[in-house]
Amino acid sequence: MKRQAVVLPKRHTAVLHYNSRMSEFHALVPAAGFGARMGHELPKQYLPLSGQPMIFHALNTLCACLEIATVFVVLAPDDTLFHTYDWSRFGDKLQPLYCGGAERAESVMNGLIASELEPDDWVLVHDAARPCLTQAHLSKLIAELRGDAVGGILAVPVADTLKRADSGGRVLRTENREQLWQAQTPQMFRAGLLAQALQQCGSVTDEASAVEALGLRPKLVLSESTNFKVTYPQDLLLAELLLNQRGNRT
Ligand code: C5P
Repeated sequence: MKRQAVVLPKRHTAVLHYNSRMSEFHALVPAAGFGARMGHELPKQYLPLSGQPMIFHALNTLCACLEIATVFVVLAPDDTLFHTYDWSRFGDKLQPLYCGGAERAESVMNGLIASELEPDDWVLVHDAARPCLTQAHLSKLIAELRGDAVGGILAVPVADTLKRADSGGRVLRTENREQLWQAQTPQMFRAGLLAQALQQCGSVTDEASAVEALGLRPKLVLSESTNFKVTYPQDLLLAELLLNQRGNRT
């Protein structure tokens, strides 16, 4: 059956009514970045982690989730590394799309268009650089949001005291951390709504920010700090310890 592609609505109207067809769940993994803060010549998603390239771990967890129909991975158009690994264990469930953009939001937008999802399908956008995602995180996210009109994100309440710095690296003031949460991924929205949000929003660092700019309030689904993003070299060691301790089970 030919699938109808995501059509971008022209006006600033949130799509909150969906047809009666059973919505599917799909994952989309933006992996077209480089990860300059790792200070490595290999793009971050391909750094070795627990015997695999880092991106393997998120793809493995997403592909093992029975509720997710397809896992799209958005690669840089000139990516030469992805095809050098053996992804055959994931079969057709894993779909590489060579359409990444200059920024994360552009990679997600290009991936949404190339994936040809139905507007009312759910899409779970997950960072390639969050290798410690588990099936429990995924199940919780899907269970809490599948009946939601807006969608939402995995997140954790901020635990540390927050300091705002001046330009000289000294404390300007202490910020109130009450009701502050740290956003994680997956971020789960309807494909049509997300495409509309990203089209209307400029540069954002996560999908929820674009949806918020439409005047909507994504739900915060309590996650765990173990679903952290590998950003600095020391994060890699922590991720390796966690994955090895789990025996690489998802
Ligand atoms: O750099 P950062 O860790 O914030 O990137 C988060 C995710 O977004 C990574 O999986 C990265 O590969 C992806 N990304 C992308 N296209 C870009 C920049 C980042 O797909 N142009």
